[in-house]
Amino acid sequence: MESTVTVRVPGTTANCGPGFDTVGIACTIYNDLTLTLSEKPGFTLAVTGEGADGIPNNERNIAYQAVSAVLNKVGVTSPGITIAMHNNIPLARGLGSSAAAIVGGLVAANAATGGKLGKDELLVLATALEGHPDNVAPAIFGGITVSFTAGGTPETLRFNPPDPLRLVVAVPDFGLSTKAARQVLPKTVPYADAVFNVSRAALLVGALCQGRLDLLRFALEDRLHQPYRAKLIPGMDEVLAAAQANGALGAAISGAGPCLIAFAHRETSAAIGGAMVAAFARHGVKAASLDLDVDNHGAKII
Ligand code: HSE
Repeated sequence: MESTVTVRVPGTTANCGPGFDTVGIACTIYNDLTLTLSEKPGFTLAVTGEGADGIPNNERNIAYQAVSAVLNKVGVTSPGITIAMHNNIPLARGLGSSAAAIVGGLVAANAATGGKLGKDELLVLATALEGHPDNVAPAIFGGITVSFTAGGTPETLRFNPPDPLRLVVAVPDFGLSTKAARQVLPKTVPYADAVFNVSRAALLVGALCQGRLDLLRFALEDRLHQPYRAKLIPGMDEVLAAAQANGALGAAISGAGPCLIAFAHRETSAAIGGAMVAAFARHGVKAASLDLDVDNHGAKII
C-alpha cells in the first residue's frame, strides 16, 4: 500500500531577545515536504529551493531522521521511503530551517501511518532531534510559544500574537551554525545580567499577551546571548538601532542569528526593512529583507 502526504511548515524565530532557548514565534514563510511510504524498496530524497546544494540527500538528512523516528515509535516498517523537500526558509540564518525539516518529516510520517501521535508527542521527538524546543514548538503549534522542559519532557505554552504584529527580518548573505553561535557564549553570567533577563523575558510574555506593543522596546532587550554574539554579526548593534530609528517596536537577533528581526506595525515595516539592509551594507554585509506576519497554524497537511 502506498501513502503520500505533503506538509507545509512555517519558519520560526526563537529567543526574541531575552527568551533564550524558550520563546519562539512561527512566521509566514514556509517549507513543503512530501513523503511517500511504499512497498517498493529504496530511499530517495530530493531538495529544491533555499540551500538545496548544502543539504544531505542521504540518511544523514534531518527530515529523513525525523521520518525514521516516527516509524520506529509507531512500529511501522516501510520498505520504500521517498522524500521531496521544497525550501523557502533561508538555511542556517536563525529562521528555523532545521526545525522545519524535522517537523515536516515528523508530521508527514505521522499522517502517513494513521496519525497515531499527538502534537505533544511530536514535540518530544522534535526536541530530541533538534536539541532545544524553542523553534520546533512554534513550527508544530503556530503562534507564540513559551517552551520548557519538566522532568526531561519538553512542554510548551502557546498563545496568539497581538493583532497588528509584523515581523521584519534582515537576512544577511552568510550562514552561521547554531553550534558556532553557542560556542561564543560564556559558561556563567553575572547575577545582575540574569536578573535583567528574568525581568525582560517576563515583560515580553506579558506585553505580547496584553498587546502592550509600546513595551517591546524594553521587552526585547537581552544580556544572556546577544552581547556575546555581536562579534559574529558585523554591524549588529547598528542594524538593530536602524530598525528602532525607523519605527520598530523593538529588535533582536532571530534565533542564534545571523538574521536580525524587528517587531513592527504594518505601516512602518517597509521602511524598517530598508533601513536594516542599508545598515548591514555600511558594514560590508549584503542582506535582503523579509516582511512577515505571525503564522497561527503551525505545520499543516496540504
Ligand atoms: N535558542 C537557540 C540559540 C537557537 O540561541 O542558540 C534556536 O534554537
